[in-house]
Amino acid sequence: MGGTKLEAGIVSAQGELLDTLRTPTQLDLGPEGVTRQLLDLGLTLLQRTSAKISGVGVGCGGPLDRELGIIQDPPNLPGWTDFPLKNHLEAGLSDAGWTLPIALDNDANAAALAELRFGAGRGFQHLIYLTISTGIGGGVILDGQLYAGKNGNAGELGHLQVEVHGERCNCGGRGCLEQYASGSSIARRARAVALATPNSLLNTLAPDPLRITAHTVLQALEGGDAATLAFWDETLEYLAAGVASTVHAFDPQRVVIGGGVSNFGEWLFPPLRARVQARTMPALWQGLEICRAELADHVGIFGAAAVALSQNWPSSSSQ
Ligand code: BGC
Ligand code: NA
Ligand code: ZN
Repeated sequence: MGGTKLEAGIVSAQGELLDTLRTPTQLDLGPEGVTRQLLDLGLTLLQRTSAKISGVGVGCGGPLDRELGIIQDPPNLPGWTDFPLKNHLEAGLSDAGWTLPIALDNDANAAALAELRFGAGRGFQHLIYLTISTGIGGGVILDGQLYAGKNGNAGELGHLQVEVHGERCNCGGRGCLEQYASGSSIARRARAVALATPNSLLNTLAPDPLRITAHTVLQALEGGDAATLAFWDETLEYLAAGVASTVHAFDPQRVVIGGGVSNFGEWLFPPLRARVQARTMPALWQGLEICRAELADHVGIFGAAAVALSQNWPSSSSQ
C-alpha cells in the first residue's frame, strides 16, 4: 500500500508472481475507503485463483504496531492516525467468506526482506534497503535477519536528519532526508527552482509549476538544464549524507535502492556512489556496493509476500 498506488498479487512460496492487480490510491476516500480499494483488489485475485492461499501480507508506511496491525502516525497519510488496518482487512475478508491470517509490516522493511530473499540481496548477510518514493523508507538486514528494533520500527531512514536547522518534516522532526530527496520533495523543491529561474527548461516542460513532478526533473536533466543540474547535485548531496550515515551505523555489504526515484538510473547511481565514498570512512566504504533494487516495479508485492512467508503459516487455509 503506497501513497500513490495500491498493488495486490499472488506469490508462491518459491517467489513466482502468479497474478497481480494495481490501482491508484484514492487518498481522498480516507482510510476506510482505501482499505475498501485494497480489499477489492485482494478479493478479485482470490476469486480468480486456483492456488491455495496461506495468508495475506501487507506492506505500508509506518510507524506501525506490527502485533496489533495498526498504522500509528504515518507522515505521508494524514488522517490515518492509529488506524487498525489489520482488523479492517480481516473484517472485509470475513464478510466475503474468507478466513486468512494477515501480517502487516513497514513497506521498506518488507521490501528489504524481499530483496534479501528474491532480489539484489540474495547471498548477503548485511543489507540496507532504501525506498525513495512518495516518502523515504528504510529496512535494515543484519546477520541475515530483518532488524526490527523494540517496536518493529527500526530503519526509518527517511527521517535521518541531514540538516540540523532544516525544514520541518511531517513526522514532527526537522531537516529529515525525506524533506529533501523523496519523490514528492524533489517535485516540491523543483517548483521553487522553476519559479526562481524563469528560463529553466522546467518551465517549458511544465508551464504550470504545480504540474512539475520528479519525472519532469528527470526530463530537465536529460535536456541539460543548468538550474536543474545544480538542484539535482544538491539533492544527491542530501542522499549521500543519508546513505553515508547509514553505512557508518551498520557497515553493510550492500545498499539497495528502490522506489520511483530509482528510475533516475544513471543520473542517480554513479554520482551517488562517488558522493557516498567521499563521505564515508575508507574501511567502511571498502567492499560496499550501492545498487538498484532488482524487483523494481513489483518490490511492493514481493515485499508483502516476504512478510507473509516469514510468518511460517501452515500452507493452506481457504474459503
Ligand atoms: C515513513 C516510512 C515509510 C516511507 C516510505 C516514510 O515517510 O515514515 O515508514 O517506509 O515513508 O513509504
Ligand atoms: Na523501515
Ligand atoms: Zn521526518
